[in-house]
Amino acid sequence: SEVDLEGHFERTVAKDQRIEPRDWMPEGYRATMIRQIAQHAHSEIIGMQPEGNWITRAPSLRRKAILLAKVQDEAGHGLYLYSAAETLGADRPDLTERLISGRQKYSSIFNYPTLSFADVGVIGWLVDGAAICNQVPLCRSSYGPYARAMIRICKEESFHQRQGFELLMTMMKGTTAQREMVRDAVNRFWWPSLMMFGPPDADSPNTARSMAWRIKRHTNDELRQRFVDMTVPQAEALGVTLPDPDLKWNAARGHYDFGAIDWTELKRVISGEGPCNAQRVAHRRRAHEDGAWVREAAAAYAAKHEGAVRD
Ligand code: ACO
Repeated sequence: SEVDLEGHFERTVAKDQRIEPRDWMPEGYRATMIRQIAQHAHSEIIGMQPEGNWITRAPSLRRKAILLAKVQDEAGHGLYLYSAAETLGADRPDLTERLISGRQKYSSIFNYPTLSFADVGVIGWLVDGAAICNQVPLCRSSYGPYARAMIRICKEESFHQRQGFELLMTMMKGTTAQREMVRDAVNRFWWPSLMMFGPPDADSPNTARSMAWRIKRHTNDELRQRFVDMTVPQAEALGVTLPDPDLKWNAARGHYDFGAIDWTELKRVISGEGPCNAQRVAHRRRAHEDGAWVREAAAAYAAKHEGAVRD
């Protein structure tokens, strides 16, 4: 009965065991998982654009090879995640349609422009650093296919974070102009990186339910604090100043205090009014339309092959 099924679901979650695709789950759980996984997949795919912007202009063959591999990894992450969403009954073409029609979200961070090559380093260091902070706990998320996808994604993200740090370290040891590029990139990306964790807990409609279902393992504010605490010493090692005069160690709390975040900016960017939203979605739409002949050819081939097998 429904009661037994619900009880079994609740006990599985409470024991920290995984919910698998064929298990019974409340419709709200399924809808929340599809929402989060789809947004996450879209973020990986849209996230290819800001860095992809620099592939043809990378300053050396080595940097170009690294950047190509990294952007390709992001495509791979998107593909695992779309597959995880499909295990919940989501339809892949429908998810793409929702992205390119602006009906489904992706991370706010990818709506900012990449103005110099230092941005590639800062995205690796701060943006991928924030992504790791958010995603490592998701390896223990209650939905099996999502949690397992997250293990490989986090390993690759850690590698991306290191490459960003190494790039910045190299630039910081370079010329005054290079150090200035790093400073400018850090200034532009610091606050948007803190916004990646989502609205403050008091203003986060989904957190309580997702925590109870053990989809999320920490709140938005907890993870944001963890990110600040981990990043400040890294900034010191790099020799860069984070653009927040209120950033200081609070011995009583055992954490860094930091300044007020401009939540109206996050709201604006999420609602489509960020500096690059229109460009990002238009680019994705164009790529999808340009790929129509590949999908048609694959479908024609499959139909022909099916006919041949039947004959
Ligand atoms: N950018 C865009 N939308 C956001 C952001 C953000 N930075 N933060 C929150 N939102 C959206 C939420 O998706 C939600 O919208 P919806 O209800 O219409 O779906 C709304 O704002 C309210 O936020 P919350 O109630 O806090 O939503 P939620 O519990 O889903 O928490 C979070 C948001 C933390 C982003 C969560 O979904 C999550 O952990 N997702 C997985 C990680 C992820 O998607 N990372 C992508 C970027 S990292 C990368 O790809 C490199």
